[in-house]
Amino acid sequence: MTMKSFFLLVLGFGVLLAGAHANEQSELTRRAKIDALIAEMTLEEKAGQLTQFSDPGDITGPAPSGSRDKKKRKLIKSGVVGSVLNVVGVENVRVLQKIAVEESRLGIPMVFAYDVIHGQKTMFPIPLAEAASWDLDLIEHSARIASIEASAQGINWTFAPMIDVSREPRWGRVMEGAGEDPFLGAEIAVARVRGFQGEDLSAHDTIASTLKHFAGYGFVESGKEYNRADVGTITLHNIILPPFRAGLERANARTVMNSFNTLNGVPATGDRYLQRDLLKGEWGFDGVIVSDWGSGIEMIEHGFAEDERDAARLAILGGSDMDMESFIYAPKLPSLVRDGVINEALLDDAVRRVLNLKFDLGLFEDPYRYIDAVREETQLFTAEHRAAARKIAQDSVVLLKNEGSLLPLSGTESIALIGALADDKDTPLGNWRARAVRNSAISVREGFEAAGIDFDFERGARLEIGEATFGSEIAINVTDKSGFEEAVTAAKNADKVVIVLGEDALQSGEGRSRAEIGFPGVQQELLELVYDANPNTVLVVMSGRPLTLTWADENVPAIVQAWHLGHEAGHAITDVLTGAVNPSGKLPMTFPRSVGQVPIYYNFLNTGRPDPNQPVFWAHYTDEENAPLYPFGYGLSYTAFKYSNLRTRKRDDGVEVSVRVKNVGDRAGAEVVQLYVHDQVASISRPERELKGFQKLTLDAGESSTLTFMLTKKELGFYNARGDFVFEPGVFDVFVGGSSAAKLNKEIRVHFALD
Ligand code: BGC
Repeated sequence: MTMKSFFLLVLGFGVLLAGAHANEQSELTRRAKIDALIAEMTLEEKAGQLTQFSDPGDITGPAPSGSRDKKKRKLIKSGVVGSVLNVVGVENVRVLQKIAVEESRLGIPMVFAYDVIHGQKTMFPIPLAEAASWDLDLIEHSARIASIEASAQGINWTFAPMIDVSREPRWGRVMEGAGEDPFLGAEIAVARVRGFQGEDLSAHDTIASTLKHFAGYGFVESGKEYNRADVGTITLHNIILPPFRAGLERANARTVMNSFNTLNGVPATGDRYLQRDLLKGEWGFDGVIVSDWGSGIEMIEHGFAEDERDAARLAILGGSDMDMESFIYAPKLPSLVRDGVINEALLDDAVRRVLNLKFDLGLFEDPYRYIDAVREETQLFTAEHRAAARKIAQDSVVLLKNEGSLLPLSGTESIALIGALADDKDTPLGNWRARAVRNSAISVREGFEAAGIDFDFERGARLEIGEATFGSEIAINVTDKSGFEEAVTAAKNADKVVIVLGEDALQSGEGRSRAEIGFPGVQQELLELVYDANPNTVLVVMSGRPLTLTWADENVPAIVQAWHLGHEAGHAITDVLTGAVNPSGKLPMTFPRSVGQVPIYYNFLNTGRPDPNQPVFWAHYTDEENAPLYPFGYGLSYTAFKYSNLRTRKRDDGVEVSVRVKNVGDRAGAEVVQLYVHDQVASISRPERELKGFQKLTLDAGESSTLTFMLTKKELGFYNARGDFVFEPGVFDVFVGGSSAAKLNKEIRVHFALD
């Protein structure tokens, strides 16, 4: 059947449905159209709609073999490809879409997917950094711009946001998420999905969003990539799943991606409980579940599937609708149906979801809607987008330490700028840099130059050897210290030192787990020598994860956490160092003192022996403190905020909490006011503290404001081991302050029933 005859068929259905009315065509329901199409499809075409290939334009997983690549275009023509990822540029999208629409039997348009994680052409801070801004409007705006740019390049589906809660700084993918907290993670998930999908998904500049990875990927054992995750039900429902629920319930994310890991022994791609019972069942998700890259076929390595056919069977039974790069659905599903092993209705349901997505995106109305060479010419990397990237980069910086007021820089001192990363135009782009041009970020050195700062630059030492690429292992310089002497001399001759150390962009991200999370290579040695030469040292840390900064914290007077901040990194860092911008970022992940403390996080359950006054037999390390180096929610400002007047008031639907916050310093600044709750006694042990509210406010010097929060059943309840949400009356502690270590607190008794 051709596209034309398909529409005649659909028209026929419309006439049937709408009876004698005049405008029957426009009355056609989407369901009737989809049913008509499904009725017309062969088993091969159905399996094809459930198949997603990667284009060789960009490779984001284990490279597929050449022969498969050649076959792909032929397969599109045969109508057995539903979606392609990694197609680069509008013209390439047009070529492939034209084959699908004009040359395949049913002419069903394809969806074009890409990992637009922190920008398409204009790079924004990595998501972990953006999370440090705690600014939901800015985060939504950054996703909005990414979606405008991606759609201007023909993309209509992003595999973002990654919302895996993680307590594992060893795991490289923490750079891609919002950190360790489910509450903050849920708010950010909603903001990002709204940014990508906008008000109207069928508009040419909005794209479908994916909540990933479902589920438990952030809990990979020992932080090792692709490892197993063993997670109890309490943690699953209270920590891992809330951002997914929020992204679906509050922002209607249209797709979800499953994950590489096994969760409690079952590969997520074949997990019926997660995908069928919970996501599609209890939560009523009607969108598409896409597999992760090859995660279907990897079920063989997991020892869960016997062979490819078995993997296809288990994946479709498990609820995984679309197969990305496993190449098992198209060849295996038709015969599984013919042999009576699986029911065709399973395929129909999955196909219906995929076709629905295509309708949502407006592709049935106009398959070329997202293909616009003029937009590609004019809407990428614009001054406006770069200004937005600079703003959120500024707000993502976290001031970790500032003793003796070394910062902000006075503008009159001489400065030695040291470190390879200070001159690096590539690393700030971050790991998932989509279509960003290599080496196109503003370096710190360039930021200093643009601000007219008087400085000498010395690299000190190279960070990596050779070129780092997405698909190859990075080689770190562990021997070459030839630039140390010049760096030390420069430090001696300057009033202050700004030293920029940390990780290359390609040391975090997928496949980039690290067992040690200090400064890689010879950087720590350089830091110690430079500090000895001039103790007036400001350390700027660029990294995709929390690093162990213990030595630095004990010695260096000023430390700035600058992540990988995107294209405008150099300007944003300079803005903060000079005081043009007062830092306001707060850590979305705990910074450990040493790797031995990991996993370390603020919302832990108490032990039965927490008392430090006991000798030996209490919960502690003999060689390390229990406390982290910097707690979740922590971050300083060039001004200071005082919290007072914590009041609680009973309301019909809960408890109102109010607090007065005053800027007691001498300059304007922004503060993230955080509210934590502790349920003293419950039917399960509850975390010592849980974030249940936050507000970011800006106050002039001397200005104060009273903020209110509501604690309802939603904030005071929890999920039990069966995954049911329960509220248990009782006594709760409320803490309010500028970090998870906030001291101001009040006890509340909630004995009335809350609805
Ligand atoms: C990653 C996904 C990503 C996919 C497609 C996988 O390796 O785990 O997050 O969306 O590749 O690039």
